[in-house]
Amino acid sequence: MSEAIRLEDVSKSFGEYEAVKDVSLTIEKGEFFSLLGPSGCGKTTTLRMLAGFEIPTEGRILLEGEPVEDVPPYERNVNMVFQSYALFEHLDVADNVAFGLKRKKVAKDEIRKRVEESLELVSLADRAKSHTNELSGGEKQRVALARALVNEPAVLLLDEPLGALDLKLRRQMQVELKQIQREVGITFVYVTHDQEEALAMSDRIAVMSDGEVVQCGVPEEVYEHPAEAFVAGFIGVSNLMEGIVQGKDKVKLASGQSVKAPLPEGCDKGEKVQLSVRPEKITLDDFERGMVTLEGTVAERVYQGVNTQVTISLGDGASVVALEQQTYRASADDRWEPGAKVKLGWHPDHCLVLR
Ligand SMILES: Nc1ncnc2c1ncn2[C@@H]1O[C@H](COP(=O)(O)OP(=O)(O)OP(=O)(O)O)[C@@H](O)[C@H]1O
Ligand SMILES: [Mg+2]
Repeated sequence: MSEAIRLEDVSKSFGEYEAVKDVSLTIEKGEFFSLLGPSGCGKTTTLRMLAGFEIPTEGRILLEGEPVEDVPPYERNVNMVFQSYALFEHLDVADNVAFGLKRKKVAKDEIRKRVEESLELVSLADRAKSHTNELSGGEKQRVALARALVNEPAVLLLDEPLGALDLKLRRQMQVELKQIQREVGITFVYVTHDQEEALAMSDRIAVMSDGEVVQCGVPEEVYEHPAEAFVAGFIGVSNLMEGIVQGKDKVKLASGQSVKAPLPEGCDKGEKVQLSVRPEKITLDDFERGMVTLEGTVAERVYQGVNTQVTISLGDGASVVALEQQTYRASADDRWEPGAKVKLGWHPDHCLVLR
């Protein structure tokens, strides 16, 4: 693989306010790369710098190896897709898609062919003559996608493109978008604040917080090995428990219990740490040798369809969330009603120590 995009120590300030801080990233050709983070963390600003709508205050941006600081947006080989679709309402679907090619004075036959191909790609070939106001939200977003793909850009920048769609359509479009990306092989830089979406679609994810990239890796890596408490908390439900290092691979929790936990290199006795264990790694039923086990009291039980979440109080304000085992036996429900005493356990390997 070769490099599509490189950001070198890129920062962007608006007046006094630093919206993007010292971001360095390399994105490979053909990659589905996501920028994930909470509102205001600098995702859109980063994308707008790639598009050329914003100029970095510091640092360099290279597209396919070429520095682009002085290249205006329309001369960059990138296209952007927005959450708001931004379609031309007075034009039909085909003319919306053809717009950019007409402006570039591409030959008529060529335009017709490429528009057809693009609409085919987004499964809208039969809607070429429809007016955009006759389309559903999902269809409008497909037109916006076709309008970008028809230009055959090296990079497609997508800013929360599915944000306006309802959950079911969103899930369906995630699958379609991923298929389209594979088919065309264009590099996608995808902005979202939805962690499930990022995990499901991306080859790699850069997690942003407060203008900085705090971790960059494949989905399994950021989920299973979050680099810091922010990432653990932002991606999925994470049980963060305060503790103090007692000795080799031993941590005393705030609740007074001591547990075995694999300490990172260089952790000193007496150091404050946080333990992170994912709910799905906690068992209430099947205890095996070598597991860490604790006693607690059920504080809350929330039915969620696919799962039932049980919040267990460990004492002294500490609590963890576990998932009720559904294969156990239906009549066992009352064991996890609020107030019940329970035992819980996890494998030390599934416990992450964050400093
Ligand atoms: N043109 C601007 N002038 C001043 N401040 C700006 C400008 N654009 C963005 N900001 C600020 O920079 C920060 C990052 O904004 P940005 O739009 O990049 O966030 P985001 O991660 O895309 O958030 P969201 O998920 O809400 O879209 C915000 O605090 C925002 O108010
Ligand atoms: Mg944004």
